[in-house]
Amino acid sequence: MSVNSFLKNYRNILNYHGYNFYGFKRVIDQILEVDFFDFSRGHKVHTAFIKTPEYTSDQYMHYQPAYTSVVKEMIQLSVAYYTSISYSDKSRFPIFVDLGCGSGKTLLIAEQFPYFKSIFGIEIDKELSNICEQNLQSLSSNNNFCINANVEEKQAINELLHFLDDTDIDDITVFAFNKNSYGQKVLESSLNLLKEKFNNIFYLYQNPVFGQVLLDNGFYEVLSDSKNSTVHKNYKYKIYHYTKSDHSHELHKNK
Ligand SMILES: C[S@@+](CC[C@H](N)C(=O)[O-])C[C@H]1O[C@@H](n2cnc3c(N)ncnc32)[C@H](O)[C@@H]1O
Repeated sequence: MSVNSFLKNYRNILNYHGYNFYGFKRVIDQILEVDFFDFSRGHKVHTAFIKTPEYTSDQYMHYQPAYTSVVKEMIQLSVAYYTSISYSDKSRFPIFVDLGCGSGKTLLIAEQFPYFKSIFGIEIDKELSNICEQNLQSLSSNNNFCINANVEEKQAINELLHFLDDTDIDDITVFAFNKNSYGQKVLESSLNLLKEKFNNIFYLYQNPVFGQVLLDNGFYEVLSDSKNSTVHKNYKYKIYHYTKSDHSHELHKNK
């Protein structure tokens, strides 16, 4: 993108939100939390844009990338939480999966954490999943995969499992990310598919509009952002944990 298109974008934000404190704060957020990500990678990746495809369902949210610092904080905190409750479990095989990954920005961030053994993105829009694949080529490691599929359909999880061929399912801990990428029904179906296959799941939910669905499906809320309630929705998150272990209730009752 040229300097002029960046300036035009900032002017649009100000025209929309007003030339006041809030408007300028949104421009600064756009620079630091969105545009700087591609800039700091020498524009070898392309994540800072909005795409509004014609979807087959009004439940599907268009592409807009998550804020960099928020994704980092969510991953850091959930990994720290998990290692604190499973420090003695040497066989664990943690994977990161963005369920509606767009251009793959969260995958690029997750890759900076040496903790994850594999990283996956699932994206319904073919053009976006192609951009995601191109973005992943900027990485030196080769355990990152972008799958063009619908998170509501079995095929998405089956393809993911195909990449994890030799791994014992009991060893896998899934760190699933969702930036409010779809409505309640899609969330429910995708959760059921995850729970069918995996025994241990952390759900990193940014802008957790349908958080109740997680609680109704046997997930426990274990972490949340520390921002005040008036902060912009892009800074809000909750992290949930689900385990099929018989000790699930005891594990969470004091949290
Ligand atoms: C709000 S964006 C989030 C992008 C990315 N997770 C991030 O945080 O940077 C939502 C993305 O989810 C994708 N999406 C929406 N519904 C989907 C579905 N049913 N299956 C797979 N992807 C979906 C959209 O195409 C869009 O790219």
